[in-house]
Amino acid sequence: MKVICISNSKGGVGKTTTAVHLADSLAKDGRTLLIDIDVQANASSIFMEREVPAELTVYGALREKRPMGQLIHGTRNPGLDIVPATIQLAELESLLSGALDGFFRLSESLRMQDLPYEFVIIDCPPNLGMVTVNAFVAATHVLVPLQTAKFSLDGLAALTSTIKTVQSRFNQGLKILGGVLTMYNPRTAIAHAMIEPIQEYIRVFDSKISRLVAVEEAFLMKQTVFEYEPKSRVAKEYLALKKEVLRGIEKG
Ligand SMILES: Nc1ncnc2c1ncn2[C@@H]1O[C@H](COP(=O)(O)OP(=O)(O)O)[C@@H](O)[C@H]1O
Ligand SMILES: [Mg+2]
Repeated sequence: MKVICISNSKGGVGKTTTAVHLADSLAKDGRTLLIDIDVQANASSIFMEREVPAELTVYGALREKRPMGQLIHGTRNPGLDIVPATIQLAELESLLSGALDGFFRLSESLRMQDLPYEFVIIDCPPNLGMVTVNAFVAATHVLVPLQTAKFSLDGLAALTSTIKTVQSRFNQGLKILGGVLTMYNPRTAIAHAMIEPIQEYIRVFDSKISRLVAVEEAFLMKQTVFEYEPKSRVAKEYLALKKEVLRGIEKG
C-alpha cells in the first residue's frame, strides 16, 4: 500500500485539487482511498453525498482510535473510497499534543486491519501541526504542491525539515516524491525563476498544472475536472502528473 501525503504548510496552493485529481485518476490503476484530514473538508465535499457524524470521519481514527476500515465511505467512482474530514478536527491539535501516542494514531488506525487499497492519498491541512505529522508518520511518500504566487523558501525549508525529523525518529522509509507547480502560468518569468531554488530542497515534476477557471467552476459544482471538463488542459495535466507519480514510486 502506497500512502501519499499531499502537503504544504500554506493554504490555497492546490493541495486539495491535487489530492482529489490524483486519487480519482489513480483509482483506475488500483483501488484507492482518499483520506481528508483538513478541517475545511474541501475534498470531502466533492465526494460525500451527505454529512456523516464526526465519529465516522477521520476524527474517529484520531480521537477515538477506531480502525480506518470503519470510517470508509464509497464514492461515485467505483475504484475510489473516502474517509471524510469534519470541522471537529479543530479540537484535536491540543489533545494529540498531550497524548503519548499522539503522533501515531493515523498510522495505527490504517494498520489495524488489512485494507484492500493499492493507493492512499492524504489531503493535509495548511500547517505542520499534530494532524499533519500523523500523516507523515503513516505515509510512504510526500508530494508538495507549490504555487508561484504564494511560494516561500522558508515554508519549503520548514516542511522538509519536519519531514527529516519524522524520517529520523518515526518513519525511515518516508520519501519526498517531489514538488508540482500548480496554477502555473508559463508566461510569467517568476514561474521559471522559481524552479531552481525549489530544486535546492526537492525535485520538481516535469508535469505542471495550469491555472484554469474550469478548476474553480468544477469545485463549485462539487465535481472533478475529469467530470466537469474532461478534455481540458488541466484534466490532461493531472493525468500526466499521475503517470509521473507512478514512475517516481516505482523508482523508489
Ligand atoms: N489549476 C488551477 N486553476 C485555477 N484554480 C485553481 C487551480 N487549482 C486550484 N485552484 C483553486 O484555488 C483554490 C485553492 O485550491 P485548493 O486546492 O483548495 O488549495 P489548498 O488545498 O492548498 O488550500 C480553490 O478555489 C481551487 O478551486
Ligand atoms: Mg485544501
